[in-house]
Amino acid sequence: MKTRITDLLGCQYPVIQGGMAWVAEYHLAAAVSEAGGIGLIGAASAPPEVVREQIRKTKELTDKPFGVNVMLLNPNAPEVAKVVVEEGVKIVTTGAGNPGKFMEMWKQAGVTVIPVVASVAMAKMMERAGADAVVAEGMESGGHIGSQTTMTLVPQVVDAVTIPVIAAGGIADGRGMAAAMMLGAEGVQMGTRFVVAKESIVHQNYKERIIKAKDIDSEVTGMSTGHPIRVLRNQMTREYLKLEKEGASFEELEQLTLGSLRKAVIEGDAVHGSLMAGQSAGLVKKEQTCQEIIEEVVTGARALLAGRK
Ligand SMILES: Cc1cc2nc3c(=O)[nH]c(=O)nc-3n(C[C@H](O)[C@H](O)[C@H](O)COP(=O)(O)O)c2cc1C
Repeated sequence: MKTRITDLLGCQYPVIQGGMAWVAEYHLAAAVSEAGGIGLIGAASAPPEVVREQIRKTKELTDKPFGVNVMLLNPNAPEVAKVVVEEGVKIVTTGAGNPGKFMEMWKQAGVTVIPVVASVAMAKMMERAGADAVVAEGMESGGHIGSQTTMTLVPQVVDAVTIPVIAAGGIADGRGMAAAMMLGAEGVQMGTRFVVAKESIVHQNYKERIIKAKDIDSEVTGMSTGHPIRVLRNQMTREYLKLEKEGASFEELEQLTLGSLRKAVIEGDAVHGSLMAGQSAGLVKKEQTCQEIIEEVVTGARALLAGRK
C-alpha cells in the first residue's frame, strides 16, 4: 500500500495514530510506528520538558519514524515547537490554529508538517503556508471536532489541494480505510480504535466503555462555547448538556470539565471523566495490539480496493 503519504513519512502503511491528549504517549506512539504506521505523541498542554522526555522514550523503543502533535492554541506551543526541532523529530501534525509562524523553523529543520483541518478553506490556507500534507478530519471523530462529515469533507479537500490528504473521523476498520482511499485520501488517521490498543495506557474502564459502545453512544458537548467535543455519554455529559441548555456561562461549563480527560484516562472515572471517543466506537469490538489493529485494517482495505476495477 504505497501512496505519497508512505513516501513522505517513510512508513510501511499509510496509517497514522492521531495525536491524543493524555492517551497518545510514548508506549502507544512507539508501538504504532513499530507496526509500520506512524505513531504520534500528543503534546496537548504538556510542559515542553515532558514532551522532550516522551520523544526520548519513544526513540528508546523504536528507530522507525514517529511524530508529535502540537496543539497551537496551547500557550506552550512555541516552546514545544522548538523541542521538536531540538530532538530531531521529523513529523509534526498540528491542531487548533495556523502553524504559519513555526513553518520556517520546521522547514529548515527538515520537519514534515501536516496540519489537521476541518474545512476546505483551512486546507487551502495550510497548503499556501507550506504544509506537506493535511489531515481532513470529519465530525465523526473523537475529541475536538469541526462541523463537516468525513464523507463530504475528504473529497472536497482532495479536489481543492495538490498535497496529499489523510482522512480522519469514523475510520476504524478496513472498510473505512478503503472508503477513505476511494474518496481520494492517501492515508488514514485513527484515534478511537487506538485508544483501545493493548499498548495504550488508558484505564480499562474507559477502554470497556468504547468496546461496549453502540452507534448512538457519543454526544457533542460545547456546541454553545464554539469548542465542540465528541465524548461518550455519561453523567458528566448529561450535566454538561443540561447546563448548556440552561445557558450556563463558559466558566461554569469549564469548571465541569476541568481535568476530566485525565480523570477518565488515568483514574478510569467513567462517570465524571471525559470519555473522548468518536462515532467509530461502535465499530471497536476488542482490545488488540497495534500490530493486530494495523494489519487487520490494512488487509481489509487492500482486499476491498483490489476488487474496485
Ligand atoms: C481521546 C482523544 C483525544 C484526542 N486529542 C487530540 C489532540 O490532542 N490533538 C488532535 O489534533 N486531535 C486529537 N484527537 C483527534 C484524533 O487525533 C483523531 O484525529 C480522531 O480521533 C480521528 O477520529 P476517530 O476517533 O473517529 O478515529 C483526539 C481524539 C481522541 C479520541
